[in-house]
Amino acid sequence: MPERFSPFETHLGDLDTFADGPPHELFRRMRDEAPVMWTAAPADWPEIDQPGFWSVTRAADVTTVSKDPETFSSWRGGFTMRAAEVGSLDVQRSVMIGKDGAEHARMRGTVNRAFTPWRVRSLGAGMRERVAGLVDAALERGRCDLVHDLAGPLANATVADLIGVPEADRPQLDRWTDAFLNADDAVAGGMRGDEALAASAQYLMGLLLEREQHPADDLITALGVAAGEGEGLSREEQVGIFSQLFAAGIDSTKGTIASGVLTLLEHPDQLRLLRDDPSLVPQAIEELLRWRPAFTHQRRTTTRPVTLGGVEIPEGDSVVMWLPSASRDPRAIERPDVFDVTRGAKRCPHQAFGGGGRHFCLGAGLARMELTVFFEELLARTEEIRLVGDAVRIRSCFVDGYVRAPLELVPARRPAAAAA
Ligand code: HEM
Repeated sequence: MPERFSPFETHLGDLDTFADGPPHELFRRMRDEAPVMWTAAPADWPEIDQPGFWSVTRAADVTTVSKDPETFSSWRGGFTMRAAEVGSLDVQRSVMIGKDGAEHARMRGTVNRAFTPWRVRSLGAGMRERVAGLVDAALERGRCDLVHDLAGPLANATVADLIGVPEADRPQLDRWTDAFLNADDAVAGGMRGDEALAASAQYLMGLLLEREQHPADDLITALGVAAGEGEGLSREEQVGIFSQLFAAGIDSTKGTIASGVLTLLEHPDQLRLLRDDPSLVPQAIEELLRWRPAFTHQRRTTTRPVTLGGVEIPEGDSVVMWLPSASRDPRAIERPDVFDVTRGAKRCPHQAFGGGGRHFCLGAGLARMELTVFFEELLARTEEIRLVGDAVRIRSCFVDGYVRAPLELVPARRPAAAAA
């Protein structure tokens, strides 16, 4: 058995390490001194079968792991470093990102047939109207909460519109997503990931059956049809797809919108550039994604002994890819510690959507559109945005997001000319 190598202590298994955001100074040191590094489990470690995990911090190594799912399995040990962050291993295995090989390919292929660029584009007009309504309502009140009044409702509505969830049923999507992706009780409200999955599965099964009787122009109908073609998907697999879509699609965009607004407030010179030239928004979105990836890590488990970054990793070990680290790796990007909205998408090779393998984010196009529409409308309708209290972070090493962040919005002097 090769020696597990740990030249210095990291505490990366400890949630306190992430209390103020990803530990960038530690990541810098790891990238330079031990880019593939054993991290011993802390005392309260929930994974009784895992004495620790390998941390991967360089962009090139994250790509290598992501592009070799035969060696680095999602199914074997789940996709999070601490299983309790999401739910049991069974829960993680029930969704697309927790599957490997043919089973994953079958699920992803079916979604791809239904989740087309046309379907994504068709959501655009309604999305712009919705953002305008949310921002205007917040402006009328003068104060609002960034998470509860802006980011959360938009993220929920986008995924609910896509899937075809009726208005009355939408609040429970938030509840299930919060419980599925957050061990933090301030967010999950005491519900566990397993309970959330069971409740959502029951609901989605009912919706699938209802759409079989009464088809509509939504993803759940299209997916029901696509699932019946080719090899077909079981009901459980179809439900797993929907659980994945709302779990992956709501929290991620909610987190990126919240951290994006706060990042711009921390960099007033960059905010000014965007206000002066709104055509910069799409490239600013890439920089925001790079600066604050919504998912802090993705985990895999080795299916065979493998050498990565010169380190021998035995079979069955946990390998954790740190996406905020990869997205600030100076080997992959110039001036990684400078937040620059004029960098240009081509010079912004972040890994916020993953390292480019078979699990690469399926909703990246939709997320980019949603973020662009949000920031275009917010900037067009406001003269000023102020943080007027504490922005409270989610306690997690898996998601980078906020529980709340109180804002004061000052309306634009001239009526907003919404972007095209
Ligand atoms: C800013 C927003 C988002 C971010 C940062 C994000 C990030 C990610 C990441 C890091 C992964 C794992 C990639 C890997 O392991 O290689 C992923 C997978 C996934 N995402 Fe996203 N995501 C976002 C929005 C969305 C949206 C809006 C949807 C759909 C409504 C979505 C659906 C998915 C699905 C289905 C997967 C699993 C794909 C697979 O396993 O094949 N995501 N996302």
